[in-house]
Amino acid sequence: MQDTSFAIHPGTKKELIGENFKDIGTLLSFTIKEDVVSFITENSFVSLVFYNDYTVRVTMNQKQQPSLSSSFAVISNRAGITPEISDHDHEVVIKSKELLVKVTKAPFRIAIYDKSGKAVVTESKKGMAFNENGEVICFKNMEDNDHFYGFGEKTGFLDKRGEKMEMWNTDVYAPHNPETDALYQSIPFFITLREGRSHGIFFDNTWKTHFDLKSELDTYSFKAEGGQLDYYVFSGPTLKEVLGQYTKLTGTMPIPPKWALGYHQSRYSYETEEEVRQLVNDFLQKKIPVDAIYLDIHYMNGYRVFTFDQDRFPTPKALIDDLNKAGIKIVPIVDPGVKEDPEYPIYQEGVRENHFCKYLEGNIYFGDVWPGNSAFPDFTSTKVRKWWGEKHKFYADLGIHGIWNDMNEPAIFNDTKTMDVKVMHDNDGEPRTHRELHNVYGFLMGEATYEGMKQQLNGKRAFLLTRAGYAGVQRYASVWTGDNRSFWEHLQLALPMCMNLGMSGVAFCGPDVGGFAHDTSGELLVRWTQFGTFTPYFRNHSAINTVRQEPWSFGDEVEKLTKKYIEQRYVWLPHLYTLFREANQTGVPVMRPLVLEFPTDENTFNLSDQFMIGDRVIVAPVLTPTTKHRVVYLPEGNWINYWTDERLAGNKHHLVEAPLNILLIFIKEGSIIPHGTVKQSTATPETEMTYHIYLRETGTASYRLYEDDGQTFGYENGETFEQEITAEKNIDSITISLKESNGSYDPTWSKETFVLHDCREDIEIIINGEEIEKTSRNFDNSSKAITVTIER
Ligand code: GLC
Repeated sequence: MQDTSFAIHPGTKKELIGENFKDIGTLLSFTIKEDVVSFITENSFVSLVFYNDYTVRVTMNQKQQPSLSSSFAVISNRAGITPEISDHDHEVVIKSKELLVKVTKAPFRIAIYDKSGKAVVTESKKGMAFNENGEVICFKNMEDNDHFYGFGEKTGFLDKRGEKMEMWNTDVYAPHNPETDALYQSIPFFITLREGRSHGIFFDNTWKTHFDLKSELDTYSFKAEGGQLDYYVFSGPTLKEVLGQYTKLTGTMPIPPKWALGYHQSRYSYETEEEVRQLVNDFLQKKIPVDAIYLDIHYMNGYRVFTFDQDRFPTPKALIDDLNKAGIKIVPIVDPGVKEDPEYPIYQEGVRENHFCKYLEGNIYFGDVWPGNSAFPDFTSTKVRKWWGEKHKFYADLGIHGIWNDMNEPAIFNDTKTMDVKVMHDNDGEPRTHRELHNVYGFLMGEATYEGMKQQLNGKRAFLLTRAGYAGVQRYASVWTGDNRSFWEHLQLALPMCMNLGMSGVAFCGPDVGGFAHDTSGELLVRWTQFGTFTPYFRNHSAINTVRQEPWSFGDEVEKLTKKYIEQRYVWLPHLYTLFREANQTGVPVMRPLVLEFPTDENTFNLSDQFMIGDRVIVAPVLTPTTKHRVVYLPEGNWINYWTDERLAGNKHHLVEAPLNILLIFIKEGSIIPHGTVKQSTATPETEMTYHIYLRETGTASYRLYEDDGQTFGYENGETFEQEITAEKNIDSITISLKESNGSYDPTWSKETFVLHDCREDIEIIINGEEIEKTSRNFDNSSKAITVTIER
């Protein structure tokens, strides 16, 4: 009945009732011990710590002194900063080298300023409060020009001002739409941009949390259904610095194995070994690049994890060996549900060794998932994570390097869609209910899987894809955005969703290309593949009972175009890989909203239909059917249309032609972009690196290329290659220099090609001090580009 107009029957009118929150009241006393300032207020206890120079942690507990033990998300330690503190009539002032906190006494309110005295975060009419149900809430002042980013995986537009959001990991198969709130990931972190400066807040609470940027004009709030009010304020002041500060706390992504950045093909399901071999043959014969094929649930024996179905996949080892030889990896799905089957060793072991989630009374929790009645490993226990991780020897021994974790919210086929919240997790001897730890279940499964695989692979990088996660998930996994549909609207919504995941520390993410449920069309597949060329994670996946969605499923024209853009992925890989390294080092995402690079340009604040790859490339996909033009916003500077070399002025909207064969890409004038070659997969070593140099009559440009072996952790010990390329152009000459830095990795390419866009045919070219003879260069009259190749 709720799906009909009955849902809005007059009798269903809700009376708005207050939530009876009680303010924590007036400050009574405070003490300081080492780096912790402890306050006692009329109704609560509050701790304040300068976690490091740019981060303040505030913790409120209405019952006792707050616990400052670390959460699952936080991996860095407190810097041990002893603050300077002064007591005044109406306020207490606490100072560190970079920040200043004023605590107003009556009522207790916190305001954080930077050292220049600029307000970062303030509270006025309302501050911290709690109610009898154990809910805790915090209010902050909101300015007219505040814009909000982050919040992990959410539908809707880029700027979250005016939204109410909930964090509760949820399996949403029904279509994702602007009203769909809680999805698979819970990342209670956001960034506020205010007049070009920004700060972030991480509300580290694993319970169901709510963020309200809607109900009041001048105040926003964040609230949890239980636990302490524990949050970190990052003072920025740039968006990139906030991301750096947040990922210093929760970790950055390890550099993925290079094969994980190639094109991936999936389907629910490639059901037999024969079908997989045929699929691979099709890719090879059609010369369409591919790096990984996914095995969805049909590969298993009765959906039992850590098994293969002997009829469908009689010789998995031979299959995987053959594919590895062809440069293609297999990624099997692994769900958390373990089939209740007394003859199944994993189930036997789990029961005997006490690895499954249980009720307080001691009985195992069972839920219905693909295998039927199933038990669920209790990943909150270190012992269980180790057990689960070691089980992955089964896959590693077969030559598998990547795992796909799904249904790990956990999803259960029942009314609540998940585990009974009364289940009591072991939590390493500090038992907590599922209600409290639900949002970290998938995250901890990810930790178990990633660490287990890493151990099994003896120095090779493991790849993990996960559907569910919590803040810090980037340390273990890449994230795909779950069960979207083959709707143009879902292509549109994937852009801001992935950009905000990037603004939440998750640099490695992407949607199912082509759409998962519903039937895609050839045109939609082309447009989506074009977008996928530049999503950090690039996988085509589709559901059972939908039309086939492989690149060749819609005739020659669609095949030609999808192939072209899959090839482009490999061409752009050196740039993408360099950006993955940057994300690994700084937490700044690969795929960026324009606001990240142009935070004072109001045209970018809610720009949701175009994005950047790094700091100098804008991508503007077509997101509607039968569309051959689109409006593109280009911020300050001049921009070059990648395909036509036409120069467009920035600070302007342009109507640009984009027929079906064109994904619009714009390069900022004054840039260098590295390009690799088209190859069947990343297993083929790069033979030639091409640098495209975009300069006008005069000017300079530079690029710092990153490379390593793409498969081991040698990069952590200096086995890297970095090359700084600079180009200086004058009226008559262009001087290029290449400078390698100290790393010990020697790249595989032997040739370096330079494409000098927009040049006079007779311009003098000097590379590393040597003039290039006129006979060793090529001039393309139509594009006015000179090409020169040198040996490395
Ligand atoms: C879930 C996943 C989807 C997968 C399916 C079958 O719906 O989100 O990607 O194909 O389960 O395993």
